[in-house]
Amino acid sequence: MSGDVVLDVRDLRVSFSVRRAGRKYRVQAVDGASLSVVEGEVLGIVGESGCGKTTVGRSIVGLARPDSGAIRFKGADLIGAGGATLREMRLNVRMVFQDPYASLNPRRVIGDSVAEAGDINGMFGSRAERSAAIAATLTAVGLDPSFATRYPYELSGGQRQRAGIARAILPTPSVVIADEPVSALDVSVQAQVLNLMMDLREQLKLSMVFISHDLGVIGQISNRVAVMYMGRIVEQAGTRTVLDGPLHPYTRSLVAAIPRPDPSRRIVAAIEASEPPSQFARPRGCAYAARCPIASDRCLADVPQLRPAAEDGRLVACHNV
Ligand SMILES: Nc1ncnc2c1ncn2[C@@H]1O[C@H](COP(=O)(O)OP(=O)(O)OP(=O)(O)O)[C@@H](O)[C@H]1O
Ligand SMILES: [Mg+2]
Repeated sequence: MSGDVVLDVRDLRVSFSVRRAGRKYRVQAVDGASLSVVEGEVLGIVGESGCGKTTVGRSIVGLARPDSGAIRFKGADLIGAGGATLREMRLNVRMVFQDPYASLNPRRVIGDSVAEAGDINGMFGSRAERSAAIAATLTAVGLDPSFATRYPYELSGGQRQRAGIARAILPTPSVVIADEPVSALDVSVQAQVLNLMMDLREQLKLSMVFISHDLGVIGQISNRVAVMYMGRIVEQAGTRTVLDGPLHPYTRSLVAAIPRPDPSRRIVAAIEASEPPSQFARPRGCAYAARCPIASDRCLADVPQLRPAAEDGRLVACHNV
């Protein structure tokens, strides 16, 4: 997919200080991740639990503080930015959380949560204008405007996530970061909420980052995919390219794990019996080497960089493909 890059993340590093058995450790949650989002596309980020997906999303919207790297929105670097640039970015790049409770204040009515970004930025000229904007936004996500005066506990899980989405689209942003937005919902409402997000994306011309641990879901809705492993992106390419011909050994194992109706289409990959290495004791070279069926000596010493691997714009971080 070609077009203007709306969001660009370069060499992002984010660490957390944690206490364990009375000692302080640093957890390197994101360890040099790079990715870009083209205007109008859905970029999927996929990877197993703990690989740093949420931390990347939270860094982009300013909820986690990066140690280093660059996060650019339409060319302007946000790390260290202030004033008008930062304000514009915060309004233009919004997040939908896995757990809608995380974004809805239990003590505030839905209308106040939905209007919060507009309130902070003095967007509404009058109370009537504010109420009209809340009502229109609730309607857009399939909720009756009367939900404005209800509290989060009065809503079902699906309704709460709709309210969480409403909160992210007033005022209309350029980019929505959706962090496992349907994982916490009943299977019966997952498809409805997913369809709503896809409809809104089209109507509001949003670009989207869609985070999931499920490559099957990502495959259905993303134009491109970034595969993440232990804090780094190991492969980024068009969704079909990745699903039909994964190159990185980790991507190959993810693709092989997707249930497919036709067994002849399954990609044979090494069965992984081992656990990923600990975030507290990171290996020196490629973080995947210990589980990798094609690792060589070099993989134990050098971290492979994300580099173009084909004419089609695919990027891969592996010494051996
Ligand atoms: N606030 C925090 N304090 C300490 N450690 C954290 C914090 N947030 C994340 N981590 C750690 O950073 C690493 C990456 O976490 P993150 O939540 O970004 O992963 P994830 O890919 O979103 O996982 P999941 O699929 O389970 O949501 C994990 O080891 C996690 O324990
Ligand atoms: Mg997460």
